[in-house]
Amino acid sequence: MNAPLKNDRFLRALRREPTDTTPVWVMRQAGRYLPEYRATRARAGSFMALAQNPELACEVTLQPLQRFELDAAILFSDILTVPDAMGLGLSFAQGEGPQFARPVRSAADVGRLAVPDMDGELRYVMDAVRLIRRELAGRAPLIGFSGSPWTLACYMVEGQGSRDFAAPKAMCWNEPALAHRLLDVLARSVAAYLAAQAAAGAQALMVFDTWGGLLGPAPFREFSLRYMAQVVEALKADPHARDLPVILFSKGANGHLAELAGTGCAALGVDWTVDLADARRAVAGKVALQGNLDPAVLRASPEVIRREARAVLDSFGPHPGHVFNLGHGITPEVDPAHVKVLVDEVHAYGRALRAG
Ligand code: CP3
Repeated sequence: MNAPLKNDRFLRALRREPTDTTPVWVMRQAGRYLPEYRATRARAGSFMALAQNPELACEVTLQPLQRFELDAAILFSDILTVPDAMGLGLSFAQGEGPQFARPVRSAADVGRLAVPDMDGELRYVMDAVRLIRRELAGRAPLIGFSGSPWTLACYMVEGQGSRDFAAPKAMCWNEPALAHRLLDVLARSVAAYLAAQAAAGAQALMVFDTWGGLLGPAPFREFSLRYMAQVVEALKADPHARDLPVILFSKGANGHLAELAGTGCAALGVDWTVDLADARRAVAGKVALQGNLDPAVLRASPEVIRREARAVLDSFGPHPGHVFNLGHGITPEVDPAHVKVLVDEVHAYGRALRAG
């Protein structure tokens, strides 16, 4: 049995229940800005070796919680472990981002894809979740995550990172039926992956739709939103996942907040290009919101970091249902001392805000 949760601020905020202060965690909180992360990664040899070793993945997951008063832990892994398990051959070339040895280009390539075995190719992820949950010992809840079907398709069709992901977009225009077959097998894989993480002990689930904002309004609904809705619906029918809050983060899709809130998710992640007061109005009390400080603010002085953190908190206001975060992942050059300034200010000002 796992220890009872000692800090439930994050889960309460996702349920839009009152909390003593605003919970905070940081996207990519276990990462290269931490010297202890770089040391563990060097010991592992490569990013994938680190992610595939449950003991080391557990170690780096807990590192940021040892430094900062974070209200949630996030599984250390990557969204691209799913396509890797589907046989695409993932590697991270030094300083060059992700690459697939076998990208998805043709109908035959899509036809070969199947939902990966959660007790087989992806067992290392579930082992890491079980171990992290045990080692957390109730200190904070554990977030499991996946890429969205659309964002995974972007990398799988392009074969690597890109600014505009022209290849997957071309597939949507030229071979829409093929794109839909790919997105359907991905939606079933993502749902199974998240359900398996829930069964292994994850306490909240987040879907990263990093590239949803590359699509215009109608294609966004057809190729991104629809498949995230399919994932949420499948999770609601799963005995382990049905009670877990799901957070959807479609970066750059601020025009779609009301539709995203209509999927049945508990919360939406938002980037820094929208005012939280406007985002609150858009979702009309249906879901909680997570965000949305510009990650670049962490390069500024402590005074500026405090001021900008307060501006985000003021923009949401004293209402229940806010989880503080960055609007995208933290970058490697950030001084860890600045993260402490941020986390402590969110907690102090979140308390003051509630006191009125
Ligand atoms: O938030 C966390 O601390 C959990 C770990 C996590 C990682 N990747 C670790 C990682 C999470 C949640 C992700 C998600 C992820 N991965 C996304 C969605 C969120 C986002 O940032 O938009 C995407 C698009 C990826 C794909 C990916 N993984 C890229 C493009 C890269 C290379 C770019 C980079 O920052 O180096 C990765 C590698 C990666 N994933 C690293 C980490 C800590 C860096 C690898 C290293 O240690 O060298």
